[in-house]
Amino acid sequence: MSAIVIDAGKCTGCGECAADCVSRHIVIEGGRARALDNACIECGHCYAICPAGAVSMPGYDCAGLEGTAAMSEFDPGRLLLAMQSRRSIRRFRPEPVSREDVERILSAGRFCPTGSNRQGLHFVIISERLEEAERAAARSFLRVKRLASLVSRTARETDIDGHFFFKGAPLAIAVCGRDAVSASLASAYMELLAESLGLGVLYSGFFVFAAKHSPELAALLALPDGVEPVTTLCIGRTDVSYPRRAPRKPLNVTWR
Ligand SMILES: Cc1cc2nc3c(=O)[nH]c(=O)nc-3n(C[C@H](O)[C@H](O)[C@H](O)COP(=O)(O)O)c2cc1C
Repeated sequence: MSAIVIDAGKCTGCGECAADCVSRHIVIEGGRARALDNACIECGHCYAICPAGAVSMPGYDCAGLEGTAAMSEFDPGRLLLAMQSRRSIRRFRPEPVSREDVERILSAGRFCPTGSNRQGLHFVIISERLEEAERAAARSFLRVKRLASLVSRTARETDIDGHFFFKGAPLAIAVCGRDAVSASLASAYMELLAESLGLGVLYSGFFVFAAKHSPELAALLALPDGVEPVTTLCIGRTDVSYPRRAPRKPLNVTWR
C-alpha cells in the first residue's frame, strides 16, 4: 500500500508532485495525480509541494506543517559567526532544562535528513538517571582504561572524576541509530537548536565509548537490537562565556 493518499477532489493535476518525486511513485492520469504501488521512501515532498493540499500521509503526524522558513532569511555572516562562536561547554549551571526546550531540540533532530529517509533514529533522554549513568560509565571506562594504560600515556593520565562524562550538565540526550551519519546530522541540528535556546552543549564521545562497552548502560539505555548510541549531547545552561572565537588549523582544501 502506498504511504501517500491523493485526494482526487482536491488534485488539480498540476504535476508538481510527480515532477518532484524521487522514486517516480506518482503519475498524472486523466488530469489527476495517482500514486503507484512501487517503493515510496515517504520523503513527503509530494505533501510539501502540493499547492492544493491534496496529499495526505496516514500514519504521519502532519499537524502544524503549514508554512516554511528559508535559511536564506538568516544573515549568512551572522550565521557563520554564530557557528564559529559555538563552544563545547564543560561548565554547566545546575538548573534543569525545561521539557519545552527538550521537545524543541528533539524536533530539530526529527526533521534532519536521513539516508533513504529511513528516519530510524532513537533518542534517549537521560535526566533522572543521569548520576546512575555517570557512575556506570565510569565503571565501564575504568575497566577499559586499566588495559589501555598499559600502552597509552593519555589513558594513564585521564582522570575519571564524578563529572567526567556529563560535566555536571543536568540532562543528556543519547542519539542512537543504525546509521551513524544520519544520527550525527541529527545531533548537529539538535546542537544548533539548543544553542539558539541559550543552552550550552557538549558532545560526550567518552560516554558513547563507555556505553558501547557496558551491559549495565545497555540496560539503562534499553535500545532495540542493532541500534547503537552514536553521539551523546550534554545540555544545560552554561557557566562560562568566551569573548572571542577559538582558532582552527588552516583549511586543507583541493580545488579541481
Ligand atoms: C563526536 C565528538 C565527541 C566528543 N567527545 C568529547 C568528550 O567525551 N569529552 C569532551 O570533553 N569533549 C568532547 N568533544 C568536544 C571536542 O573535544 C571539541 O569539539 C574540540 O575540543 C573543539 O572545541 P570546540 O567544540 O569548543 O570548538 C567531542 C566532540 C565531538 C564532535
